[in-house]
Amino acid sequence: MSVVLEGFGLVKRFGSTTALDGVGLAIHGGEAVAIMGPSGSGKSTLLHCLAGIMKPDAGEVHLLGRRIDTMGERERSALRRTRFGFVFQFGQLLPELPAEENVALPLMLGGVSRADAVRQAREWFVPLGLAGMEQRRPGELSGGQAQRVAIARALVTRPAVVFADEPTGALDQATGHDTMRLLADATRRNEASLVVVTHDPQVARWCDRTVEVRDGRLLPGTGVVPGAVSGAAG
Ligand SMILES: Nc1ncnc2c1ncn2[C@@H]1O[C@H](COP(=O)(O)OP(=O)(O)O)[C@@H](O)[C@H]1O
Ligand SMILES: [Mg+2]
Repeated sequence: MSVVLEGFGLVKRFGSTTALDGVGLAIHGGEAVAIMGPSGSGKSTLLHCLAGIMKPDAGEVHLLGRRIDTMGERERSALRRTRFGFVFQFGQLLPELPAEENVALPLMLGGVSRADAVRQAREWFVPLGLAGMEQRRPGELSGGQAQRVAIARALVTRPAVVFADEPTGALDQATGHDTMRLLADATRRNEASLVVVTHDPQVARWCDRTVEVRDGRLLPGTGVVPGAVSGAAG
C-alpha cells in the first residue's frame, strides 16, 4: 500500500524540553501503527504533529503528497475535520447530546443537514455493538460504550487516518482490549489507517506494527529513515 501520511525530521521543543528530536514516520494506507514508549517520551507530541494539531519547529508532514504542517490554522482545522478522525482517552463526548448526535457532529460541522447526519450516524451503532444506545447521553453509557461512540464519531466522516491517544487508558483491561479490537477492525473495514498511542503491549498486538519512542526519537529499525521519503528525497 502507498504512503498516506508521512512526517520526517520532526522536531518540537517546549521551552528547554525537546519533546521530538528528529522523528520520521510513514503511515501506509489501511495499516495500523502502534506508538509505544515511556511516559513523557514524546508520543502525544508526535501524534499531534502528524495530525496537524501542532506545528513542528522543524521537519515536514505530508498527507497524500500534500504538505500540511505549513498550512494555516483554518486550513489545518478543515483538514482535521475531513481527513482525520480522533479518539482520545475519555471525556471527549459532549455530555448534553445523545450518542447519535455526538456521532453526527463532525458531519454537521462539515455542512451535512442534521437529519442526514443523524441518519448516517445511526448506521454505526449496530456494527459497533451499540444497538439501542442511540438516544443515551454519554453519562448513561459505560466507559467502553462511550469509547465505541467515540470510535463511531471518528469514522463517520470516512477519514483517511484515525488517531487514537491512549484510547483504552481509562478502561479496565478486558474492556480496553475489546475496545481496541473494535477500533482496529472498524478502521480496517473502512480502509482508514490507524495511529494509536498506547502503553499496553496487548493493545499494540492489534496493530500491524509498533514503533518505539525514547526521549523524542524512534528506536532504530522503526519509522522511516530521514531522506528516504517518497518524492521528497534529493
Ligand atoms: N504543551 C506542553 N508544554 C510544555 N511541555 C510539554 C507540552 N507537551 C508536552 N510537553 C513535554 O514534552 C515531553 C513529551 O511529552 P508527550 O509528547 O506528552 O509525551 P508522552 O505522550 O509520551 O507521555 C514531556 O517532557 C512533556 O512534559
Ligand atoms: Mg501522551
